[in-house]
Amino acid sequence: FPLKSLNTFGIDARARRYLRVRGPEDLAAVIGDPALAALPRLLLGGGSNVLLTRDFDGLVLHMTGAGKALAGETDSHVLVRGAAGENWHGFVQYTLAQGLGGLENMSLIPGTLGAAPIQNIGAYGAEIKDVFHSLTVFDMASGELRTMDAAACRFGYRDSVFKRAEGQGLAIVDVTFALPRDWQPNLRYAELAQALSEAGVKQPTPQQVSDTVVALRRRKLPDPAVIGNAGSFFKNPLVTGAACARLLAQFPALVHHAQPDGSEKLAAGWLIDQCGWKGRKLGAAGVYPKQALVLVNNGGASGADVLALARAIQADVSARYGVLLEPEPVLV
Ligand code: FAD
Ligand code: EPU
Repeated sequence: FPLKSLNTFGIDARARRYLRVRGPEDLAAVIGDPALAALPRLLLGGGSNVLLTRDFDGLVLHMTGAGKALAGETDSHVLVRGAAGENWHGFVQYTLAQGLGGLENMSLIPGTLGAAPIQNIGAYGAEIKDVFHSLTVFDMASGELRTMDAAACRFGYRDSVFKRAEGQGLAIVDVTFALPRDWQPNLRYAELAQALSEAGVKQPTPQQVSDTVVALRRRKLPDPAVIGNAGSFFKNPLVTGAACARLLAQFPALVHHAQPDGSEKLAAGWLIDQCGWKGRKLGAAGVYPKQALVLVNNGGASGADVLALARAIQADVSARYGVLLEPEPVLV
């Protein structure tokens, strides 16, 4: 089964089998069928955070379940729930249309609602963990449905239990957010605050914040429908305060952001840019000319081509800065 249109890198890989999953019943049918249950499995939503490095000799489960609704309220919050296959940005727009803020800084992130918790998606100073309530998983081993709260998901920067061994075999079937009635704009990200103030907006609504984020993102990030990519290819590396100070002594322009725990987050895009990679190509893979953290498929690249480029960048950044860049997308 061809996967080219199911991954935003546009990698032309194939899978042995493919099934569309509309809900837990379809997953129960998979584990109830001995022939299907024996195959290695790959869950896919929008395919916007995977790099297919080769053909997949197994079963692709495409999470397409739809539906979203208000799911309860308290004095302070409104609960909103959606099925795993809902488009993320569509879900954000739905909450805005209900007059609810909380997700607007994460507007226009590609992919599905069900994949959002996998790496605790974030942008412009917000992460889903800030407004997350709970999710439902279908356990592929036991066939049971289970609810998990934020603590059980163990969210971190671009991380959760679903990226680790303990979280394998869990299919997220729906996700619930608790959105505050008493909304305040989150303008911690300087670029967002500046764009709003340049537009003369003093007390933005959630919709205005969303529109501004959309405009910023369109300026910097390639549209996967035009040029294959998976957004940031590496995570921004975390280093100790002492390591950051040593680097700053040698590279005063180093871009870094202090974290609450005293560590420092470096801008991987800056490190890659400084190594001269921005806009460069290696075979059919390349570094996006407007954002060095985004690797692109310039047409016909294989997963191996993208990996070769990633390795070359990692080697240069490590040699110059002594920092190891970790890939953000899931390598399949
Ligand atoms: P997929 O790529 O289909 O899957 C990703 C992983 O999740 C895989 O391991 C898959 O097996 C697993 N998975 C998918 N669905 C489920 C499920 N229902 N249950 C269990 N496991 C599942 N990310 C950010 O955080 N911030 C950004 O600003 C951002 N910008 C981006 C910009 C561009 C142009 C692109 C292409 C990507 C960007 N990303 C960003 C990455 C991506 O959008 C997110 O990681 C998104 O959540 C992936 O969703 P998806 O449905 O495409 O997941
Ligand atoms: N920079 C450069 N050169 C470049 C790119 C960036 O010098 O080519 C510098 C910028 O000038 C800036 C800093 O690096 O000082 C950070 O750049 P930017 O604001 O573009 O953000 P980023 O760190 O590259 C992160 C997320 C994005 C998210 C944006 C906005 C990660 C790995 N990436 O990118 O998420 O949209 O911030 O919040 O955390 C993704 O995860 O796929 C993704 C796109």
